[in-house]
Amino acid sequence: MQRIDRRAIIQIGIPRALLMDHAGLALASLIRRRYPVSRYRDVVVCCGSGYNGGDGLSAARHLLRWGYRPRVVLVGSPKALRAEPALYEGILHRLHVPMVALTSPAHVARLRGHLRAASLVVDALLGIGLRGPLRPLQTLAIAEINAAGKPVVSADVPSGLDGDSGLPHGAAVRASATVTFGMPKRGLLARRARPYVGRLLVDEITLPPTLLTPS
Ligand SMILES: NC(=O)c1ccc[n+]([C@@H]2O[C@H](COP(=O)([O-])OP(=O)(O)OC[C@H]3O[C@@H](n4cnc5c(N)ncnc54)[C@H](OP(=O)(O)O)[C@@H]3O)[C@@H](O)[C@H]2O)c1
Repeated sequence: MQRIDRRAIIQIGIPRALLMDHAGLALASLIRRRYPVSRYRDVVVCCGSGYNGGDGLSAARHLLRWGYRPRVVLVGSPKALRAEPALYEGILHRLHVPMVALTSPAHVARLRGHLRAASLVVDALLGIGLRGPLRPLQTLAIAEINAAGKPVVSADVPSGLDGDSGLPHGAAVRASATVTFGMPKRGLLARRARPYVGRLLVDEITLPPTLLTPS
């Protein structure tokens, strides 16, 4: 999937921001269908500082359009955001969407308060870019999300889960539903991944079918 992304962006010239917008729209659309705004208005969108976090930031913009009250918790430093996630962060800032950044394990208790006030959680901390054992900040954030007892919709892969093996890197989010982008990652289909993935949806985020068809 990482190769397909690169080909779509570099060889075909589809802007990454456009794919990110479609990923966010896919997440928000699932939420609108399954978690109606009348019951699930307060959404805490947990974002990491990579492109997976960018998908969450983009989802927050769409949720806002549909009457939800998104609140963003960035697990990481805003300074670490790359161009496209920073673009969506700027849009949310100008739309006055509340946003807090947690940069150390000592801050994680703040996430608990936001989760308590929320009716739904978007998990966009970590996707297929996760490498090696989880760091303490992300480990604690995942534990808080799992302990909150709220429905969780994960972006691409439940955070902490290895997309190839379906095994947690120490800990992983237990999602109610996962919207995966492009093609389902092998690990999501493994039996052992079921308790983490929940209901699995695949959205092709407008990637050209020629890239998604094995040659
Ligand atoms: N073109 C698109 O817009 C597009 C298309 C399809 C999918 N996606 C999305 O992009 C995602 C991949 O984005 P990405 O490559 O930026 O990867 P990512 O899944 O967002 O992961 C990278 C982030 O995870 C952190 N990280 C890595 N290993 C960690 C560990 N062991 N413990 C804690 N944090 C860790 C990195 O921090 P450091 O930088 O500090 O290492 C970085 O912030 C996909 O899963 C999907 O959601 C985007």
